[in-house]
Amino acid sequence: MTMAIVYSSKTGNTKEVVHLIWQLFLEEKIDVTLFRVEEFPIMDLTNYEAVVIGTYTWGNGEIPYEMMKLYRAFETQDVKTVLTGVIGTGDSGYPKFCGAVDEFKDMLYVHTNLMVTLKLELSLQRNDMVKCQRFVNIFVNELSRRQRIGSQSMD
Ligand SMILES: Cc1cc2nc3c(=O)[nH]c(=O)nc-3n(C[C@H](O)[C@H](O)[C@H](O)COP(=O)(O)O)c2cc1C
Repeated sequence: MTMAIVYSSKTGNTKEVVHLIWQLFLEEKIDVTLFRVEEFPIMDLTNYEAVVIGTYTWGNGEIPYEMMKLYRAFETQDVKTVLTGVIGTGDSGYPKFCGAVDEFKDMLYVHTNLMVTLKLELSLQRNDMVKCQRFVNIFVNELSRRQRIGSQSMD
């Protein structure tokens, strides 16, 4: 089983963040693939043990249009055991800072095994590195815990 990072980015802020997250997972020897949302094979989310969503926020705190197919796929597929996380960039000058992260969070909390969310201000800053590393560690710890349980199984 593998992990996917699926993202959308208009001006590059979210792209920068997910590339960093991707690198951090690779350093932890996680089998992870990075997809732009348009390229992601949405039909079978259950092929993945873990999915990280990267999104900016649009309109008045809204999920970008191109991410809505992914949102609906999580609502309609049997993804109870899929580990999920959301990372987003936004602008705190807007009333709903990173509103798309909140929208995904509420849905993923109901339908998946939601691990962590992270909101970042615009482009990646030095002190965001620590937050991104923590985000990654939460997944790595859970994935290795699952692996330990799996290897103890007697059937
Ligand atoms: C028309 C428009 C609406 C936006 N609305 C919001 C918003 O409601 N909340 C927010 O936090 N950021 C909002 N933003 C800011 C973007 O989410 C932010 O610039 C983000 O980092 C862009 O990500 P990207 O570079 O990956 O495209 C808006 C930006 C634009 C241009």
